Amino acid sequence: MTGRLAGKVALITGIGGGMGREAARRFAAEGAVVVGCDLDADGLEETVALVRSEGGEITGDAPVDAGDAAAVEGWIHTAAQAHGAIDILYNNASIQRFGAIDEISVEDWDFAIDMELNLVFYAVRAAWKHLKQRGGVIVNIGSIAGTRGVEFMPQNAHGAAKAGVINLTQQLAVEGGPHGIRAVCISPGFIQTPATTFLVDDPPAPLKATWDRIPLRRVGRPDDVVNAAVFLASEEASWIPGINLVIDGGGSVLG
Ligand SMILES: NC(=O)c1ccc[n+]([C@@H]2O[C@H](COP(=O)([O-])OP(=O)(O)OC[C@H]3O[C@@H](n4cnc5c(N)ncnc54)[C@H](O)[C@@H]3O)[C@@H](O)[C@H]2O)c1
Repeated sequence: MTGRLAGKVALITGIGGGMGREAARRFAAEGAVVVGCDLDADGLEETVALVRSEGGEITGDAPVDAGDAAAVEGWIHTAAQAHGAIDILYNNASIQRFGAIDEISVEDWDFAIDMELNLVFYAVRAAWKHLKQRGGVIVNIGSIAGTRGVEFMPQNAHGAAKAGVINLTQQLAVEGGPHGIRAVCISPGFIQTPATTFLVDDPPAPLKATWDRIPLRRVGRPDDVVNAAVFLASEEASWIPGINLVIDGGGSVLG
């Protein structure tokens, strides 16, 4: 590793597994001081132990529900006080609810918007004044679901929420620029994580057909996404605000 994030204080939501765990490992390995949170205390403790065993600097709090505005505000302010400032806010956590448009309940719709879009707003809102102290980076995780419909998954609420994350990032880039805050979004395609392994093990035929057409002929891995996050969070990307970087093996460029 090359210390590309040396001295940076990086807050990452949802480090208890999946891409959040990989982000905690890589950001720490690149020299960041990582402060994580998760709903899942056991998963978070595993990540903290793993990162420390690899020589990284990390603390974590759980259970913290990023979908609870007061809880996430408390987590962020405590971290800012402990470290003096925040340099990176990485909004990774989300929980999905799926349902066809005539079947999804209002409760499930609201849950998805809370747990995929509102939680990004809550964290940004709380972190903004700390990021303004010395400039910083917001990395939001969107999804290719935010820019298209699909036949294999009734992603009404999920897609709408992720579209919101992508667009919110653009506005944050505009409002953050004068303060030295760069907001960026990464939109992964299908990535194998604990949340999606059941699909890899037994994919429905339409999903399998989609994967078979991916130009690079494989589904994604957490490091495919986190490699880009490291770059975007680093000084190497210091003139790159507002983008929505699609990472999907080329699937989205197919007609
Ligand atoms: N896996 C994919 O194929 C895929 C594709 C596109 C986008 N994404 C997005 O990438 C991000 C990470 O996905 P993943 O597959 O690694 O998920 P995951 O379920 O494997 O891990 C998410 C982690 O976040 C935690 N979490 C969820 N909601 C939380 C909350 N409200 N507060 C605190 N912690 C919370 C979970 O406990 C878990 O540890 C999500 O935003 C997801 O929507 C995933």
